[in-house]
Amino acid sequence: MVPYCLLTLLLHSHLIAIIQGGGMKTLYEWSGVDFTWPSSRIRDNAIRDGKYDPSKVAILDVDVFDPTTYGPNNGYAGGPNKEKRIFVTTPKFQPGIPVTLSTLSSKRANDGSHLLEPFPNWSTHNEKDCDGLISVYRVQIDECGKLWVLDTGKLNTFTGSPKKLCNPQIVVYDLTKGDKIVRKKIPM
Ligand SMILES: *[C@@H]1O[C@H](CO)[C@@H](O)[C@H](O)[C@H]1NC(C)=O
Repeated sequence: MVPYCLLTLLLHSHLIAIIQGGGMKTLYEWSGVDFTWPSSRIRDNAIRDGKYDPSKVAILDVDVFDPTTYGPNNGYAGGPNKEKRIFVTTPKFQPGIPVTLSTLSSKRANDGSHLLEPFPNWSTHNEKDCDGLISVYRVQIDECGKLWVLDTGKLNTFTGSPKKLCNPQIVVYDLTKGDKIVRKKIPM
C-alpha cells in the first residue's frame, strides 16, 4: 500500500514531485518549497535571519491519510471533513529549513505549488523545545490511522557541524482523534 512516492531532483533543477502508482502520474510538484507563514513579516524576518531559505528545503518522505478508510465503524471521529491529508517530511539537513513535518495545504504559492502547513502547528517546530519536533526523516501512517513520526533530534547533519539538540524520538499522533499525541518514545 504505497501508491505515492517521491521524486527529488534537487541537484539540477530543485524540482520535487510526488508521483503516484505504476503510471507515474505527477500529483504535486515544487521548484521551491514554501509554508503557510502566520504573516509575511514573519516570513521576511525568517529569510533575513537565515532561518528560511527556499532553496534548502527538500521533501524526503510522504504518506497519505484517507479518512474514508476509517469510517465511523472504524472509530473515525474527525468530523465531516473527509479530505485526504498528505504528510511530508523536510529534515533539517542544513540551516534554512524552518519546519520539519507538514501537511499539504490547499493554499498555493504564486507559482501554483502547494504551500506546506506545519504539523501539528507552528509552535511544535521550535528548536528550543525537545517536546516539539526537531528533524523528522520518516513518517508512516498505520492501519489504525496513527501517524508514526521518526525525529532524529539532530540539526544540520549535511554540514560540517551537525548539532544534537535532543534525543531521537518516535511520536505517534492519532489522526482519527484530532491529531492527539498517543505515544512518545524516547530511546537512549
Ligand atoms: C501545538 O501542538 C501541540 C501538540 O499537539 C500542543 O500541545 C500545543 O498546545 C499546540 N500549540 C498551539 C499553539 O496550538
